[in-house]
Amino acid sequence: MDLQNMVEEVWNSLADQRGAGKVADYIPALAEVDPNCFGIALATRDGRTYCAGDGEVPFSIQSISKVFVLAMALDRHGSALFEAVGREPSGDPFNSIVQLEREKGIPRNPFINAGAIVTTDRLIDDRSTEEAVEELLAALKKMARDDDIRIDKEVAQSESRTGARNRSLAYFMADFDRLLNPVETVLSVYFRQCALTMTCKQLAEAALFLAFDGTDPVTGHVLTSTQRARRINALMLTCGHYDNSGEFAYEVGFCGKSGVGGGILAIVPDKASIAVWAPGLNREGTSLLGARALREIAHRTGWSVF
Ligand code: DON
Repeated sequence: MDLQNMVEEVWNSLADQRGAGKVADYIPALAEVDPNCFGIALATRDGRTYCAGDGEVPFSIQSISKVFVLAMALDRHGSALFEAVGREPSGDPFNSIVQLEREKGIPRNPFINAGAIVTTDRLIDDRSTEEAVEELLAALKKMARDDDIRIDKEVAQSESRTGARNRSLAYFMADFDRLLNPVETVLSVYFRQCALTMTCKQLAEAALFLAFDGTDPVTGHVLTSTQRARRINALMLTCGHYDNSGEFAYEVGFCGKSGVGGGILAIVPDKASIAVWAPGLNREGTSLLGARALREIAHRTGWSVF
């Protein structure tokens, strides 16, 4: 199959729907993005990446960062990490607090905000926040084979200024003694990881190791074990879209992780890593056009994992 042609056809077939959905505005800096942006990038084992539309325009990756932080926290702590965070879908919105009280401050999974605050805390561990952020940035640059990845300070500050909900989640967990570090220390890293700015191309390339059993097929670097890569993909499939995860699996059939910046990272084991971006979201915070593009790619390639 001519993959360049395929991604361009998918882009063209949906281009007249640009602007669909609602751009996130609860983080004011995100509301300033052009709602008509629409990009696709698909990276394959041989080092090629096929792009369409705004596939090389940087955007705020938001919750997609939770995948990379999970991988790094798991490498640091092994499966002991799952004593602090669960592995079940929550069926609740990404920023929900309701389960935390009933479940004694242990978040359902590493992709809801509460769970990601825990993985960020474990990534920091006993180090300085600067060390943890530097490690994350360096890892992303290495995995994407591109040094042009940065943290948007304005977005990070905007998140912090409007971060009452995330502070509530973190203080609630701190009350159960679930965090190693003070709440503001953890959140200063969490807000910065969410404010990472990357292109679809960089994201697809950085996540290629998840499609190929933990090893970057282009450089041969072993980034995580086969078992761990498969398990991260399983969590993306079951929890990557919060209370929209079932629908995404049903409609698309790829492992995926959404972000409120409008990006979606999708992993197709043994085939490809795909990133799409369109800022308009559905009610659950997943890119509306992005999910449609992935459904169309699944349809045209027959790559659904099911
Ligand atoms: O913490 C937040 O609310 C945002 N920085 C990230 C949320 C997010 O991306 C949810 N994903 N769809």
